Amino acid sequence: MNCGPAPTVAAALATARTMGVDRLDAQWLLARVLNRPRSWLLAHDEAPLDADLWRQFQGHLVRRAGGEPLAYLHGEKEFHGLTLSVTPAVLVPRPDTELLVDWALELLDGALAEVKSPQVADLGTGSGAIALAVKNCCPQATVMATDNSQSALAVAEANAVRLGLDVGFVTGSWWAALPVRRFHLVLSNPPYIAAGDPHLPALRHEPASALTPGGDGLGALQEIVHGAPHHLLPGGWLLLEHGFEQAEAVQRLLRSEGFAGVETRHDLGGQPRCSGGHR
Ligand SMILES: C[S@@+](CC[C@H](N)C(=O)[O-])C[C@H]1O[C@@H](n2cnc3c(N)ncnc32)[C@H](O)[C@@H]1O
Repeated sequence: MNCGPAPTVAAALATARTMGVDRLDAQWLLARVLNRPRSWLLAHDEAPLDADLWRQFQGHLVRRAGGEPLAYLHGEKEFHGLTLSVTPAVLVPRPDTELLVDWALELLDGALAEVKSPQVADLGTGSGAIALAVKNCCPQATVMATDNSQSALAVAEANAVRLGLDVGFVTGSWWAALPVRRFHLVLSNPPYIAAGDPHLPALRHEPASALTPGGDGLGALQEIVHGAPHHLLPGGWLLLEHGFEQAEAVQRLLRSEGFAGVETRHDLGGQPRCSGGHR
C-alpha cells in the first residue's frame, strides 16, 4: 500500500471509512497505535500523525478490512472479567462462552459446594478462557486444561502466568490428554461447526481446527460424551457448548451415556447454546 504523506487524525479515520472499516473499530485501532485513549482522538481531530504510526495504522486497516478479528490486531480479548492475550493460534473467546463458565460456577457453589477441592477439566482450552475464568472465581478448584494444539497451549500457559492463575496444561486429543484422571466437573467448548457451514469462510482467520471437526460438526462432542463416564467421579458433571441447532443431538448423546438431570441453557441471543448433565 502507498502510504503517502502522514495525515491528521480526522483524515486517517476518513481513510478507514473508505476502506470499509467500521468507525468504532478504526477509532480503537488508531487509539492503540497512538497509545492514547479513544476520547483523545475526538478532541484532537487536527493532530498530525507521525509517518511511522500512520504506516502502522494503515497496516492494521488492511488486516481489518480483510476480515481479521479486532482481537488479533489488539492482541487481546476480555473474557469473564479477564484480559486474555490472543494470537491467530487460538479462537477468539466469545461472550456466549461465559454462559458455560457461569453454569460451572453455579455448580461449584451449589451441587458441588461440599467438595473441598473440586477437580475441574477444560477440554480444548484454546486461549485458556474457560479454565482461567473458573480458576479465577473458584481458587480452591484444581483446574486442568487440555488442547491438541501446542501453539494454542503456549498462549494459554502464557495467559495463566501473566494472570497468576495456577492451572495445569496438558497436550493431547480430548480424553487421551488425561488418561487416568477423574473429575467432579468437565467443561468443553469443542469445535462444532459442520464442514459445509456457510459461516465458516467469514471465520477463516481463526484456526480451522478450533471451529470444525469436519462432517456434521458433532464428532468432537460425541467423542467427549462417550469418554466422559470413565473420567467423571460419581455425581460428576459434564457441560458442553454446542451449535444452536445441536441441543437435541447433544441431549440425546448425554442420555444415551446414562447422564441424569440433562438440561440446555440459552445464550444472550436466546439460542440453545450449552447442554449438560451429571452421573
Ligand atoms: C472452539 S475452540 C474453544 C477454545 C476455548 N475453549 C474457548 O472457548 O474460547 C476449540 C478448541 O479445541 C481444540 N481442539 C480441536 N480438536 C481437538 C482435539 N482433538 N483434542 C483437544 N483439543 C482439540 C482447538 O485447538 C481449540 O483450541
